[in-house]
Amino acid sequence: MPVSRDDFLGIMSAFPTGVAIVTTLEPDGTPRGLTTNAVTSVSADPPILLVCVDRNSRTLPALTARKRFVVNFMRDDHEEICRLFASKADDKFAHVAWTPGRDGVPVLHEGAIAHAECETLDELVIGDHVVVTGLVVDGDAPAESDLPIVYFKRGYTSAPTPDAL
Ligand SMILES: Cc1cc2nc3c(=O)[nH]c(=O)nc-3n(C[C@H](O)[C@H](O)[C@H](O)COP(=O)(O)O)c2cc1C
Repeated sequence: MPVSRDDFLGIMSAFPTGVAIVTTLEPDGTPRGLTTNAVTSVSADPPILLVCVDRNSRTLPALTARKRFVVNFMRDDHEEICRLFASKADDKFAHVAWTPGRDGVPVLHEGAIAHAECETLDELVIGDHVVVTGLVVDGDAPAESDLPIVYFKRGYTSAPTPDAL
């Protein structure tokens, strides 16, 4: 027998992650997005990452239809935006500064320290999530002084500065 959902989430809470807001567009151009931490680098050459999206996510149908998405890696002092995009609010994009990236998909400037613009390669249903792999076709890296927000033990915290490691 597998452990319960709660026990599983408790176990995984031991693993600190960054937080990324994944954005995409509805077929009619409406922006959609959600807060994620199930984001992983898969391959360096070619550059491929993956994101795991809940099958109940309201962003997922747009992501699946558009086959383009942006992974916006969030800054340490922007917990509020992470919380907003972890909600079911209809007007998430009314509260953040964004510009259309390649293919028009929203790139968040406020609150993001880096982003990766992706073309979907594969979608694989595993349990209650869909694993979406994306070829990274554009993006930018964080500046020297930028620090990411960290999710750990079901709460947000700041990353230690590299000097403190
Ligand atoms: C720190 C954090 C990380 C999360 N990571 C994921 C994730 O990797 N995949 C996912 O589908 N949902 C994740 N969620 C939950 C979604 O953000 C949440 O279900 C959201 O309401 C989905 O929005 P949508 O239905 O508008 O797409 C996470 C939530 C938090 C607070």
